[in-house]
Amino acid sequence: MTDPKSDPKSDPKSDNKSDNKRGKTVHGDAANAGHRVLAPDDAEVEAYLETALKAPAPDRSPDDRPGSGAPHPGADAEGPDTVVILDFGSQFAQLIARRVRELNVYSELLPHDTPWAEIERRRPRAVILSGGPNSVYDAGAPMPDGGVWSGRIPVLGICYGAQLMARELGGDVLAAGKREYGPASVTITHEDGLFAGLDREQPVWMSHGDSITRLPEGFHATAQTDSSPLAGFADPSRGLYAIQFHPEVAHTPRGKDILRNFVIGIAGARATWTPANFIESTVADIRSRVDDHARATDSDGLVICALSGGVDSAVAAALVHRAVGDRLTCIYVDHGLMRKRESELLRTTFEANLGMRLVMVDARQRFLERLAGVEDPEQKRKIIGDEFIRVFEEEATKLGRIDFLTQGTLYPDVIESATSETKAAQKIKTHHNVGGLPADLRFKLIEPLRYLFKDEVRAVGLELGLPEAMVQRQPFPGPGLAIRIIGEVTAERLDTLRDADWIVIDEIKAAGLYRSVWQSFAILTPVRSVGVMGDGRTYANVVAIRAVTSDDGMTADWAKLPYDVLGKISSRIVNEVPGVNRVVYDISSKPPATIEWE
Ligand code: XMP
Repeated sequence: MTDPKSDPKSDPKSDNKSDNKRGKTVHGDAANAGHRVLAPDDAEVEAYLETALKAPAPDRSPDDRPGSGAPHPGADAEGPDTVVILDFGSQFAQLIARRVRELNVYSELLPHDTPWAEIERRRPRAVILSGGPNSVYDAGAPMPDGGVWSGRIPVLGICYGAQLMARELGGDVLAAGKREYGPASVTITHEDGLFAGLDREQPVWMSHGDSITRLPEGFHATAQTDSSPLAGFADPSRGLYAIQFHPEVAHTPRGKDILRNFVIGIAGARATWTPANFIESTVADIRSRVDDHARATDSDGLVICALSGGVDSAVAAALVHRAVGDRLTCIYVDHGLMRKRESELLRTTFEANLGMRLVMVDARQRFLERLAGVEDPEQKRKIIGDEFIRVFEEEATKLGRIDFLTQGTLYPDVIESATSETKAAQKIKTHHNVGGLPADLRFKLIEPLRYLFKDEVRAVGLELGLPEAMVQRQPFPGPGLAIRIIGEVTAERLDTLRDADWIVIDEIKAAGLYRSVWQSFAILTPVRSVGVMGDGRTYANVVAIRAVTSDDGMTADWAKLPYDVLGKISSRIVNEVPGVNRVVYDISSKPPATIEWE
């Protein structure tokens, strides 16, 4: 159900997390260098609510952590068939999981040393061993539990996973001095199910150092390249398959067919992981959890959710609403820093169309008053965060006892952090020591999206009937337009920026570019320049346009927008937005620039 970008752009030459340059400046520091919360989309607003409610750090029990406890609630007899991917440190490991999910088969990424009993408890139809930066000869090279070779569950080894399979089962792997990177042409010599339906010659993406020089007993070669005579091998009688190249990246065009052949053809997994099935089982889970809790504690089982306008909180709220109806209350703080028509869209969607209980707080004036005269970007962020928390506190207290807090935590956050607490929450909590509800209130968390990748969240959102404009929305920072107005934020300047920004989005959408760029927006600069309009001279503001391509916001490239699109944006802004007579395009990449100007 996903359509992720898959180019191994960040550093295709390396399968090594440690020399992955994401998030690093040329000096090796974090690109965000601590001066701001990196929380694209709505994690920041959720964190405000968490802070306002004095919610404890979300209690992620050991059972909740990938690889250490209970399987996905659906991983039982009626649940989705599961593929376990063991992560040996490849930067592409998540991509394998996403590719399998694209086949509508549920996949889970587990640590490489997950005990075999734990893997079997999840009843996977297949296991995939990812690539990794190590050599199988390294001291401390990551090893799987030996049970993986038992032949009870089909296994596909990719790259390092293939070398492990060769070596652990008695073959030879030669520590090569030279790595083989990049595109290669593979010749399929034995179809064996894995390569069913594929031409003999296939372009593939290679990235490995060591070479397999002798196969273990029972295996035969299935593919070769000029430099790797054993680029593929298999022992179908034990369900063991290996390939030296990466089927998960876009540079292996038929990679998805190879994964399909393995997961569905060889392992027999059923393609039932669909948005509709996910919604059905998740709604049932949430309902029974809230009901059980309400019965056990003699409470009403009330749930609260902070809406930010972002896709994650919107989808999480819509799912929870389906499960518990009016027991869910959503809070949306209209701080006046949103883009044009966003607040209206939110109200129509949640209140009018979905019939949800929505507390929409018009706090525009409060925010403007506190922001008056403030020019420093970090000061703006602090004020906005602080005011947000105050507003939430006031509203949440009115609701009485709340049992559950809904958060839009996604699967990558679950995989990557030991606790589910968002980075934004950690950062915000260090800045705020606020009052609020009694500290002994222990909220329970509902995180209905914690098994989903972002693209799956979008698919679920569409299936739930949320509007396209909300579901496909580009990331938007918590402090909103305030950090896109350089200098003081005033009602008038907000209106100017909103109008200019609307035109940017409108034209980017009209050109069919909205989804291929990561973010595209306008910035209102304090610079004024001379212009001429009709017979008169003007002295008005300069608006800058920023459009970037990116995979995750950590690094970004300025987007090479067509000149005619830029031209149209410029002439429309100058003609339609009062007070602007000049438009410039920002051609800086990140690093060294950031995506936002403040
Ligand atoms: P930068 O400007 O650091 O932005 O390159 C990276 C991503 O983070 C978003 N961003 C923020 N999100 N609060 C947020 O919730 C913030 O203060 C903030 N500052 C930047 C930015 O829009 C981009 O997606």
